[in-house]
Formats: sequence, C-alpha cells, structure tokens
Amino acid sequence: MSAPERRRKRPEELRSHQWYGTEGLRSFSHRARTRQLGYLPEEHLGKPVIAILNTWSDINPCHVHLRDRAQAVKRGVWQAGGFPLEFPVSTLSETFQKPTPMLYRNLLAMETEELCRSYPVDGVVLLGGCDKSTPALLMGAATVDLPTVFVPAGPMLPGHWRDEVLGSGTDMWKYWDDKRAGLIGECELSELERGLARSPGHCMTMGTASTLTAAAEALGVTVPGASSIPAVDSGHDRMAAASGLRVVELVRQDLRLSEILTREAYEDAVATVLALGGSTNAVIHLIAMAGRSGVRLTLDDFDRTARTVPVLADLRPGGRYLMEDFHFAGGLPGFLSRLTDILHLDRPTVAHRTLREQLDGAGVHNSEVIRERDNPLAEEGGVAVLRGNLCPDGAVIKHIAAEPRLLKHTGPAVVFDDYKTMQATINDPGLGITEDSVLVLRNAGPLGGPGMPEYGMLPIPEHLLKRGVRDMVRISDARMSGTSYGACVLHIAPESYVGGPLALVRDGDPVTLDVAARVLRMEVDDAELERRRALWSAPPPRYERGYGALYQEQMTQADTGCDFRFLARPGAVPEPYAG
Ligand code: FES
Ligand code: MG
Repeated sequence: MSAPERRRKRPEELRSHQWYGTEGLRSFSHRARTRQLGYLPEEHLGKPVIAILNTWSDINPCHVHLRDRAQAVKRGVWQAGGFPLEFPVSTLSETFQKPTPMLYRNLLAMETEELCRSYPVDGVVLLGGCDKSTPALLMGAATVDLPTVFVPAGPMLPGHWRDEVLGSGTDMWKYWDDKRAGLIGECELSELERGLARSPGHCMTMGTASTLTAAAEALGVTVPGASSIPAVDSGHDRMAAASGLRVVELVRQDLRLSEILTREAYEDAVATVLALGGSTNAVIHLIAMAGRSGVRLTLDDFDRTARTVPVLADLRPGGRYLMEDFHFAGGLPGFLSRLTDILHLDRPTVAHRTLREQLDGAGVHNSEVIRERDNPLAEEGGVAVLRGNLCPDGAVIKHIAAEPRLLKHTGPAVVFDDYKTMQATINDPGLGITEDSVLVLRNAGPLGGPGMPEYGMLPIPEHLLKRGVRDMVRISDARMSGTSYGACVLHIAPESYVGGPLALVRDGDPVTLDVAARVLRMEVDDAELERRRALWSAPPPRYERGYGALYQEQMTQADTGCDFRFLARPGAVPEPYAG
C-alpha cells in the first residue's frame, strides 16, 4: 500500500505520551502499572498505543470468532511497532437483544467515544459487523477522531438444507410462512434450524450487516476487500493482521478519521448501498454516521442518488446469490470498479492515497453476481423516499423487494395500535382483511417501539397465506430487517407515538401508495384530520428511569438518523488531563 507523503509523528507527539512519557507521578504510576501487566519498557514506550475495540461475546454468533481475530490484529500491530491493547465493548446481537439492539446503538457509540478518549489511545481498530455494531462503532470513532481501521466481522458461510442453499434471515421468514401455510412440518423445521446459520459470522445475505460493512469499506475505513471475506476464511485472519499493520502507519502519519469520512465519502457510501440493493436500515445509520462527521446527509440525498444508480448486485433478499458468491465475484473492489463514473475517486482511504489507486486492478469475475452496467438487476436504486400526509418528514420503501403490482395501490386501512395487538389479532377473519387491505402498524417507531424494532414486515394473515398471497402493502413507523422483503413502507416520520399523522389513521381509510410518484397518503381531508388530532392524546412514557429514560429524552426521529440530541450536536470535548 502506498502512503501519502506526510510528516511522521515523533514518539513524544503521540497522545499516549501524556500517559507514559512525562516526568510526573502519574506517568510513573502508568509505567509501573504497565509493568504489572507484564510488559517490558521496550515493548511499549514510545510506540503507538492501538486500542482494539472488540464486540465479541459468547451470546453473539455473528461475532463469536472475533476473540481470535483480535489476536491477528495484535499480530499486525506488534509487527508494525505498535502496542496493542484489547478492550471489550458491549455486544449488539441482532438475534438476542430485546426489545431491539437499535435501542443500544447509541450506547455503544458513546462507549466507543468515551473509551477512546479516556484511555491512552493513539489509534483504534474496531471489530464488529452484526447490524448496529458497524454504525455504533463508527459513530463513536468519528466523533473522537483518531486514526482508525474497521475490521468487518465477515459473513457466515452459506446456509444449506437438503439440496437448497439458504440465506440466514431471508429463508427463515420464507420457511416460517411455509410452516404457517401448512406446507412444511416440525421435522423440516428442525432440519432448517441446523442449516440456516452454519458458521460464525454475520448474516450472509445483503441484509443490514452486509450493507453496513460494505458501506464501511466504501467509506474507505477498511483495508481493501475486507467486507465480503467469509468470517471463517483464513483470509479473514490475514485481513485482521493487515488492519493492525495499517493502523500503526496511520498513527505515524496522523491520518485521522475526519480526513476519510468526508461528504464525498458518504455520498459514495450511499451510492454503494443503493447499487447493492442494500438494507433500508442503512438510510438511518448513514445519516447518523454522517452527522457525527459533520456531514448533513438527508433522505433526499438517498432518493436523488437512487434515481441515478442502478442495482448491480444480484444478492438476496432482492436477488439470488449470497455474500460468498459476491466475494469470489470480486467483492466490493470489483463491485466499485463498475461504479467508477459515479464515485469520487480522488478521496483518500485508510489504505491508499486515493480511491482510484485502491481500485486499480480490481475487477469482476462473475457478471451474474455483479452485473454489467448495461444489464442491471434494476434500473434504479432499491430504496425510494415517500412523502405525503401520512409521512410529512418522509418514509422509505425497498421497492425492489416488493411485488410490482403493489407499487401503485390504494386499499382500506386495517390499523393495529401496537405490535402485540397485531400479533394477537392478525389472523382473526373477523377483521375482514383482504389482499387489497393496507396493514397499518403504529407505536413501533424510535420512541414508541421503543427502539424502532424490526416489526415493519407485518405478517400476512394465515387465511391469505393459504390462498397463496405472499405480499401486501404494509405501513409503519418501524424498521424492517435487511433480510426481509415485501411492499413494506417503513420509518414513517414523525412517528405515531409523538403524534405524527400515522396516529390519526382509522380502519377503512383509503391509503394510497404510489412509489413512482413517491407518495404515501391517506385519502382523508385536512378538516377531518384536524378533528381527529384534537381527540388524540399522547401514550404514556415508556420508561421512568435508567438508560431508557435518557433514550426517551434524547432520541431524534428516523429522518435525522435516531442519534441522541446531546451526541449529535456540534461542539468540542476537552482532552482529559493525564498528568
Ligand atoms: Fe447478526 Fe444477522 S443476526 S447480522
Ligand atoms: Mg438484521
């Protein structure tokens, strides 16, 4: 990797020098305590201290290999003359953490920021990949602004069941619907239970995890090609070691995250996510991440870019293949090599002076998986931003994952006030739900959910499933798993819990979705809506104390990224006094 020509930092200019290298009592104490840790002076004094932030946990199958990977990062750091120190940070497991890890994304972002600031850290390596981990780690790191490399956890191996290849998540939804429709039984389900997720690593479809790790690589904060390497491939170890080697060099050059995470980088990440047909969650996370970099990214940036960027990746849930196929087809470098007219090629990455240099020699080896520009999977990016009297501050739909007949549709609303009520009643034939109905879920947003759970793919009622109906228009202020699919309008802002118009819809109101016109509307006149608003009262607070109460007080809406107000606002934080 070639390095920009910059003045190299002297050891006494390192941030950690304040802890270890000065004359006073504190510095003596820090050295004594490092002896206690078992290190010789020559092993660490004057060397860049690299914090390895590890989201490994026994309960997180997507990160369960990261304890080993941290060893590979350390190997790289030692080889480059740095001093690696591993820090366990909280783990956000999409599968296990309730009500949703989204409630805790900002907590991990805070932990990342404060940990890097309060310890003698010169450079940072971030290990994570399961859904919210990537944005959380990068939001915190962007704020503290040290030289940083992100190590994506890597996708798990493809799932298998009998002679079928399975996508984690995507095929879970599909076969669960088959079970509900009576097409498979307990025996098949227990086989599926063993075959859906076969190895450590994050979901191997183009779900939220793969979308966000690809965005991280497109932003330029990983070593090239990092994001698609299967978690259990030996190449993943080598990538981790390369990241450790690289971060020490970044410290010596004082190349901070703020030089990488520019407006141009975020624009390229948006284009990448859209061309991948990536998860709708990326909209919220990239807006929040950009905010931490002082870059104002909006829903309109996504919609505008989507109209010019074709979908080139034939990956599930929108397409056919899985991340391992994508990796061997050329991975993200190959993919980006087909978007060079759209990308900002002169911006720096952690590995190269320019993105152009980074993509030099990259190519595609399978044009079924990564399509040619003149043979796209879809002419337009996969995500559309909707407006109308139901969503004055916007809503999103991943229209490439929906049945085309539903993309222009008017139907009567069937309203559920919360998720539990919906679960308890959705199969009740008395509700009169038909395939033309529009299913409406409210109180599932950032504050009402709380945490904006992935409830947005509302289940199709069983009597319709049995008749073969597999998609309907569904609208909510929730999010949807990146591995989900269907005509699901998500992220309605403002959410119903704070009195957004979604709170005013009633059973039977005609609701119109028109994706081409970017409209989501209820056909109810303004006077009637005003009358309903006067009758509306806010639901009770979700929390009385604790982190939830802080969350409740500080959370912003989906269109601005769901960051905390006190974290998103500009302003300096002083360096701690280490003397
Ligand atoms: Fe971790 Fe899907 S559950 S990425
Ligand atoms: Mg997910």
